[in-house]
Amino acid sequence: MASDSAIQLLDLSKTFGRRQKQVKAVRGINLEVTANQVYGFLGPNGAGKSTTIRMILDLIRPSRGEVHLYGQPIKQNRTILQKRVGGLVEGARFYPFLSGRDNLELIGRTGGFYDAQRIETLLEQVGMADRAARQAGGYSTGMKQRLGLAAALLSDPDLVILDEPTNGLDPAGIQEMRLFIRELVDEQGKTVFLSSHLLSEVEQVCDRVAIINKGEIIREGRVADLLAGQRQLHIEAEPLAGVTAVLGDHYSLTHENNGITLAAAKEETPQIVRKLVANDIAIFQVRSQRQSLEAFFLEATGERAEEQGSRGAGESVSPPSSKKEVSDD
Ligand SMILES: Nc1ncnc2c1ncn2[C@@H]1O[C@H](COP(=O)(O)OP(=O)(O)OP(=O)(O)O)[C@@H](O)[C@H]1O
Ligand SMILES: [Mg+2]
Repeated sequence: MASDSAIQLLDLSKTFGRRQKQVKAVRGINLEVTANQVYGFLGPNGAGKSTTIRMILDLIRPSRGEVHLYGQPIKQNRTILQKRVGGLVEGARFYPFLSGRDNLELIGRTGGFYDAQRIETLLEQVGMADRAARQAGGYSTGMKQRLGLAAALLSDPDLVILDEPTNGLDPAGIQEMRLFIRELVDEQGKTVFLSSHLLSEVEQVCDRVAIINKGEIIREGRVADLLAGQRQLHIEAEPLAGVTAVLGDHYSLTHENNGITLAAAKEETPQIVRKLVANDIAIFQVRSQRQSLEAFFLEATGERAEEQGSRGAGESVSPPSSKKEVSDD
């Protein structure tokens, strides 16, 4: 049903500049976001995330294609944006000489949805209540980001569009933001579309994800499905050179966390272990774990892990977090 669809992007494209200086920021994107979920828009810097979000919010005009919100083309029905959508774009701007609270009041009055009580509730929820009386010009990046989120939610929108919502937030702020975003969807029944270049973020908060690279969507699906079957084996053994000698011809090996990691299905584990034992290699630990979205992303965007620099690359590909491991049932 059309009402179940919050966002539809149809062949959406944006080209900046002319002739030789053309930048094809977004290249014919097709995407459907159904209501009541957290949808992630994941991509590296310059992938076209902000450009797409600006087109969804009608801040810039597409070069080609259309944006439909709740089944209606925004070209013909701008009121739907005002009535049902709230957005936080990169570098949210506020009146520097007004306090945070007064900025929200102004936004509310201008938009026709001023509600003093709601402003206080939101200031509390984004952790800005005690700083709301200060001039917004003096806010830090993280504080501006929090106020921006409150501003996006002021009209109590059904659809919340957030461009890199955790930008500038400290670790505690990131955690709060995640919980808050889930609450918007799980308890308030809203739909959240957020962009991020952080895999861990998308992995932890999103239900579905589209991966965008160089203006094109290269993967789309449920976060859980995209990761299903993407398993890897982490082996701690001695000597590691022996492991390389035995498995190197058949698998692509990565040295990390005092061991070796390779992409392999869980079913291959016994056979791999047998081979190692037969070659007198002492095995201390073998763990089958889910590939992180990060490793998946590097694969999907065609950027190999090695190109990220050898220092710390292994760690970023497979964080030693217990969350990434799937316990055997
Ligand atoms: N106003 C503009 N004029 C010219 N080029 C632009 C403009 N806005 C964006 N671009 C270009 O479009 C491409 C996509 O930019 P965009 O800001 O959408 O990327 P992004 O995915 O949001 O990246 P980031 O993670 O760094 O925020 C980039 O090559 C960028 O330089
Ligand atoms: Mg951006």
